Amino acid sequence: MPESSVKRILTGMRPTGDLHLGHKVGALDLWKAAQNNVGIEQFYLVADMQALTTHLEELQKVKSSVRTIVLDWMSVGLDPRNSHVHFVLQSQVRARGMISHYLMMQTPFNALEANPTIKTERANLEKQGKSVTAGFMVYPVDQSADILMVSPENLDGNQLLVPVGADQIPHLEDARDAARKFNKAHGVELLMACEPQVSEVPRLVGTDGDGKMGKSTNNAIFLSDSPSVVRDKVMGMFTDPNHIRLTDAGDVENNPVFIYLRAFSKDREMVRGLEEDYKKPGVPLGDVAVKNVLIQCINEMLGPIRERRLAAENEPVGDFLRHGTQRASEIADEVLVKMENAMSVGYPD
Ligand code: TRP
Repeated sequence: MPESSVKRILTGMRPTGDLHLGHKVGALDLWKAAQNNVGIEQFYLVADMQALTTHLEELQKVKSSVRTIVLDWMSVGLDPRNSHVHFVLQSQVRARGMISHYLMMQTPFNALEANPTIKTERANLEKQGKSVTAGFMVYPVDQSADILMVSPENLDGNQLLVPVGADQIPHLEDARDAARKFNKAHGVELLMACEPQVSEVPRLVGTDGDGKMGKSTNNAIFLSDSPSVVRDKVMGMFTDPNHIRLTDAGDVENNPVFIYLRAFSKDREMVRGLEEDYKKPGVPLGDVAVKNVLIQCINEMLGPIRERRLAAENEPVGDFLRHGTQRASEIADEVLVKMENAMSVGYPD
């Protein structure tokens, strides 16, 4: 592999609220691990423009979430004071918007209309009586631009990695297609097909045991929740409805309390023991006892996260974003110029 190979990571989230345990297992743990690779330059994008595709009526919430999402990221140990780690504010990378616009020129509109993710989310918007904007319809293209704005040239040894939750995979496939299509149309090897990196942990159920943990569904435990809030939420968790008396045989597979214990406890033996007792008829083990174990486990895990968050609150969050955005812009400016050259866009002689 050539010494000069360029390796980059780009990933992101929309600033639309506080991050929760589902984000931690789905994406943040991957990001934290990625940070150890000091040879890979890393861009963590606060996707504030993408947030407008769904939150145009909540601009203040988006604005405040730009700051809190950075605090959430720092609370799990991402640290933009590392020279290879950049936090980027999407709207402020001006070249990104132009890259996005050029990519739109090669994207058939009916492909967007047929995109399964767009179809589902569009139906949801319509159901809520919200308008389906042009900006919403092109957001997969825009997300491709997020990734490709830091693309190394498509040469052996270079890499463009995107660590994400599994729900983002279709969008990454679009970004791969967009890169290949551009290269092919203009006879260049400018943009790379990015490589997804997906967490092996399945998506986390909500505390209500119903579907996935969500920001807005009232079934989330947030990274910023205090010990007593965690206690209340766990005590209110759904368990096995057929486990009525302490000695009843209970289900541990689909029981969210046990799903969380398996996801978050470091003591596998202890969890296995609890599972055995809970499953066995005649062995008294109540939900409250199991929940108390879970409360302690989550609060232990969140302890250092709370400490780092408290420290981060005194850090210059705006400056971190400014510096990271500047670095992303440097690269995006170059990519944009090369794209324009490839497309023969520009002044005549
Ligand atoms: N769509 C992602 C989400 O909703 C956020 C996002 C925006 C993103 N741009 C990205 C993720 C680029 C990975 C790469 O969470």
